[in-house]
Amino acid sequence: MNDDTKYKDVRSLTASLVASLSPEDQMVQSCPEASPVKWHQAHTTWFFETFVLRPFLKNYKPFCEDFRWLFNSYYNSIGGEIPDKRLRASFCRPSLDEVLAFREHVDQAMQRFLSGSADDESARRVILGLNHEQQHQELALTDIKHVFFSNPLRPSYLAAEFTNEADLPVPKLEWHASEGGLVEIGYPLQVENPLDFCFDNETPRHKVYLEPFQIANREVTCREYLEFMLDDAYTRPEFWLSDGLETVKHGDWQAPLYWERDASDKTGWRVFTLRGWLGLSSLLDTPVCHVSFFEADAFARWRGCRLPTESEWESVASTAPLRGNLLDTGRLHPASANGAGVDQLFGDCWEWMASPYVGYPGYKPLPGALGEYNGKFMSGQMILRGGSCVTAASHIRATYRNFFQPATRWQFSGIRLAA
Ligand SMILES: [Fe+2]
Repeated sequence: MNDDTKYKDVRSLTASLVASLSPEDQMVQSCPEASPVKWHQAHTTWFFETFVLRPFLKNYKPFCEDFRWLFNSYYNSIGGEIPDKRLRASFCRPSLDEVLAFREHVDQAMQRFLSGSADDESARRVILGLNHEQQHQELALTDIKHVFFSNPLRPSYLAAEFTNEADLPVPKLEWHASEGGLVEIGYPLQVENPLDFCFDNETPRHKVYLEPFQIANREVTCREYLEFMLDDAYTRPEFWLSDGLETVKHGDWQAPLYWERDASDKTGWRVFTLRGWLGLSSLLDTPVCHVSFFEADAFARWRGCRLPTESEWESVASTAPLRGNLLDTGRLHPASANGAGVDQLFGDCWEWMASPYVGYPGYKPLPGALGEYNGKFMSGQMILRGGSCVTAASHIRATYRNFFQPATRWQFSGIRLAA
């Protein structure tokens, strides 16, 4: 597939993911982690304008000079004001129509740019921009889920119901043993090939020594997590990191995000999904999601296990086929495990790792403003691996490192055990 086709595919997928949302839906920012969908649409466009068109397309005329700072997320090196993230919901101007016109303006310029011959640096930036937009597609879906959950009417993003995969028998939790030893992790980037892509934080590839370990054959299910809740684990300090217990008390957490008590379901709970409410009893064999690192870690302690390290995870995932319940299935919710071997490594839920987000040995951020993309967030965050049911299949790989603060749980984040 050439760059032009890839560009059109990614940009039109954004348009189709947000097609059912009204201008009002696209204005809401319902939690500090999230951004309005309108902002996602503008910011991803800003990325191409700022990093590709302004520096590389001759005679490019920017759509609006104010957009240069207005839709900057966090790149201080660009200069100028960066609006506080919490103010994104106040952007009633520009209107959604103006943002869509901005997208059209940039798309037309990008067509002109891609029809010419690009040098290596601009070709790399186009691929980075497409991967950036795929990240924001995922964010737009997780953010709109939170928006609809926060609305008293509790609307659904998708009208259609799930097909009933929950009836399939889920494999019981089994351990896959690895003898460990010296392994290589990180993306083997061919630097001379501008079309070979990974994020800078996946490099350099390097050796890690692993003790023998065991990793679970699938993600932890809602049924298993409910047992943890029914054992009063949320109130038992022995399972919790100090910051975790504080977070649980402060937020009065008694269950994952999007779980709500419901006497009409035999479990006593219902779960909000992108297709509206579902009784927990219909989801018991599906992976638990929307848990924080603290909850994942406490669950593992309660089970007498631990979370995997990212090196352990990658050593297993790098030999597994890259398939799973990703965005492309259209389910938009985790599904029951049904594969043999170590299943659900890709898709369903991002899996919290026991590893803090730090640079690999010899890590160098990209030069210039793009060096702010990943590297400056390497403090106070934990690694997640494997993508989720709202991650595009063409976006994820075994070496991919996602990262969030340990208390965050608005992403599709779940649990895999290790021992
Ligand atoms: Fe961004």
